[in-house]
Amino acid sequence: MIIILFGPPGAGKGTQAQIIEKKNGLLQLSTGDMLRKAVASGTHYGKRAEDKMTAGELVSDDIVIGIIADRIKEKDCSNGFILDGFPRTVAQAEALDVMLVEEGVSLDAVIQMEVDDAALVGRIAGRYTCAGCNQGYHDTDVKPKTEGVCDCCGGTEFKRRADDNAETVGKRLKEYYAQTAPVLPYYAEKGVLQQVDGMASVEEVAAQIAVILAA
Ligand code: AP5
Repeated sequence: MIIILFGPPGAGKGTQAQIIEKKNGLLQLSTGDMLRKAVASGTHYGKRAEDKMTAGELVSDDIVIGIIADRIKEKDCSNGFILDGFPRTVAQAEALDVMLVEEGVSLDAVIQMEVDDAALVGRIAGRYTCAGCNQGYHDTDVKPKTEGVCDCCGGTEFKRRADDNAETVGKRLKEYYAQTAPVLPYYAEKGVLQQVDGMASVEEVAAQIAVILAA
């Protein structure tokens, strides 16, 4: 099964991708995480992407298309995957279609997570992740069961993203409406687009997605 989690920054794509990965055995492919790794290791792609990410702008299509095209050929993708943060432009969506044909697979669903803009800013401002396993949390909304200890790996070190600040969030939202939202009609026309209420609790959103995946 191949699915796309679609939505603005902070909509909960990563949170739900981690849940689906555990429940359905699909691999989470987050272009944001891949790019942050490339930046941290100083690769050619990473050096080209860093300034754009820091500014809250989209990284160029050729970089992200290249990263995903290489990644989905790897063996661990053969049981299916969740695209989290890709595609983000119509050109990326068109390139993905070509990749999937080449791999002899097809897209099962594009799940649009609908969240009010005002809530997105609060979600991003309060977000932090486990430094060990990348499990996501929120200062007030999604806390670990034991304060300071990751539910998943027991780690006690946490980190916050450099682009999670008020100024950059505004820019990321503008980029979403200008470049990413126009991808929605592309998938609506293909008949694969479905919506979930991203304003609901994490558990309720997961339940809505489970219904879509079981259909
Ligand atoms: P990326 O890492 O993809 O960031 P993003 O799209 O801005 O999305 P986020 O990771 O911020 O949010 P999310 O929807 O995953 O929310 P989360 O689950 O964490 O991209 C970063 C940058 O990389 C981009 O700006 C761009 O430069 C570049 N890039 C990446 N992909 C690219 C592409 N394809 N093309 C070009 N450039 C690309 O949740 C947020 C918070 O809310 C968390 O704290 C969570 O605990 C909490 N939360 C989640 N769900 C709920 C809920 N239901 N109720 C309450 N709180 C919740």
